[in-house]
Amino acid sequence: MQIPESLAELGRKRIAPFPAEGFVYGGGPKRPKLMLVGEAPGETEIHNGIPFSGRAGEQLMGFLERAGLTREEVYITSAVRSRPYQWKNKRTRQGEVVKRKYNRTPTAKEVLAHAPILDYEIEHVEAPLIVTLGNIGLKRLAGPKAKITDMHGQLLNQPVQRLKDETSTFYEWTEKNYQIFPTFHPASIFYNRSLLELIHEDFDRLKEIVHQLSK
Ligand code: URA
Repeated sequence: MQIPESLAELGRKRIAPFPAEGFVYGGGPKRPKLMLVGEAPGETEIHNGIPFSGRAGEQLMGFLERAGLTREEVYITSAVRSRPYQWKNKRTRQGEVVKRKYNRTPTAKEVLAHAPILDYEIEHVEAPLIVTLGNIGLKRLAGPKAKITDMHGQLLNQPVQRLKDETSTFYEWTEKNYQIFPTFHPASIFYNRSLLELIHEDFDRLKEIVHQLSK
């Protein structure tokens, strides 16, 4: 399933005031086994246009395999579709200081800018289960009080936040309930290796849930 080009155009316009570059489309089949909601693309994704195709993506594919899933069976998207960056100084091997763009976590305003895109995907992809990867995707759907460390590995059945309308800066709750399974962002293990065991447990649980849902 692909979002309409007019919606992608709207997304490009809404993100334009922020330090975020490029635009990566979500991808996957209509009626997938599940929908993955990440944070935002990074440098690799912006260059090749494929979500989760960098280092975090490599980890994610391993976790999906653990749950008995392939990339082709799932729909992959994120809260923000452009790469949020910040300039930082980097010292080269020759000792020269150069300015370089680094990935950063998207702000709440950037998430709001791309909310119409995720809202559209949730409505049209028809996934029986939404797996949020990390705090940004979880909070976008389950509200600002939701915390990944408390909620990971649990199957939630609840409304999700959607933008009230395109001119609004507020979310409202959907009438419909969705099945949400929060887990950590695959890149989290780069900073905290001890999360790996928890992520493995979550994906083992996810395998059972996907099995139940496909019965
Ligand atoms: N992190 C995300 O959330 N999405 C990507 O595509 C890559 C890294």
